[in-house]
Amino acid sequence: KQQSTMSFEKISWEYKGFTLPRDITEETLDDLSTFQIRDDDIVVASFPKTGTNWLLEIVGKILRAAGKTESSTDSLIAPGPLEMKTPTATQPCYVMLADMPSPRIVATHLPFELAPEGISKPQNKVKILVPMRNPKDTAVSLYHFGNKIFKLMGITHDIPWEGFAQKFTNGKVAYGPFEDHVLGWWKMRDDPHFLFLKYEDMKKDLLSAVKTIVAFLEVDLDESTIKGIAEASTFNNMKADMDNSKMAERQAIARKGIIGDWKNMFTPEQSKAFDDWYEEKFSGTGVIFDFE
Ligand code: PPS
Repeated sequence: KQQSTMSFEKISWEYKGFTLPRDITEETLDDLSTFQIRDDDIVVASFPKTGTNWLLEIVGKILRAAGKTESSTDSLIAPGPLEMKTPTATQPCYVMLADMPSPRIVATHLPFELAPEGISKPQNKVKILVPMRNPKDTAVSLYHFGNKIFKLMGITHDIPWEGFAQKFTNGKVAYGPFEDHVLGWWKMRDDPHFLFLKYEDMKKDLLSAVKTIVAFLEVDLDESTIKGIAEASTFNNMKADMDNSKMAERQAIARKGIIGDWKNMFTPEQSKAFDDWYEEKFSGTGVIFDFE
């Protein structure tokens, strides 16, 4: 038990009030200012496990259907978040992105305060989608993902859930504090470059969400194409695609894909502690999560 807790601490560090994965160095963060955003870039800026890949895939399908790409095989989606190295790469993704053809679909988990200016102060036509998910399900999803990644790293013990739930509200999980992350991006809610989408709303009415995204991206698609994209983006259909991926990290992404999985993990005391923390951090901010 102790060993896995120690390992967890070893993989993160503190920077300007945020907890970041150890892979992201100060040099990377400084150098990220050189990232050249393009007018036709589409960015998904998210706290981990809130629906990043779901949005990346939907945007990819929309751009492809709208004929925005010439290649029918190349992925439009960057191989990983801007600030991170993929397991096989020696450089962070933003470096590789320089060689990617347009349009590029780019993810970042960086908080607003640490994101490159092209994203935090967008100009021209850059578009940024921000998924949001209730923090109880986000914590559970992150917990299971962390355990899977640990196994890939050869660490066989599970992280104790009890300690993890506390770390989440204490802001000590990767990219935390959750509230600072969410409220940082939330400052941009009235900026037309941004679209905020709730995971729970997408689950309840995916077709409407896809229509909203199509309108936001200012592309023209007919009703049946939009329906086809929504159908291809359901959890089961996306999971089948991801499970076929050769990358183990990618296979770890589609897990359950439901609202309310937190009920399988939280004790009543943990749930109460989260409710108190949520009330303290989010009341009056306009951010309202659906815990269902
Ligand atoms: S990551 O690693 O931070 O980029 O993860 P992220 O993609 O943000 O979130 C992963 C969770 O999203 C769920 N997911 C989906 N839910 C519903 N429908 C679709 N199509 C879908 N695709 C991914 C995924 O299962 C993770 O949530 P959990 O609760 O762990 O299942």
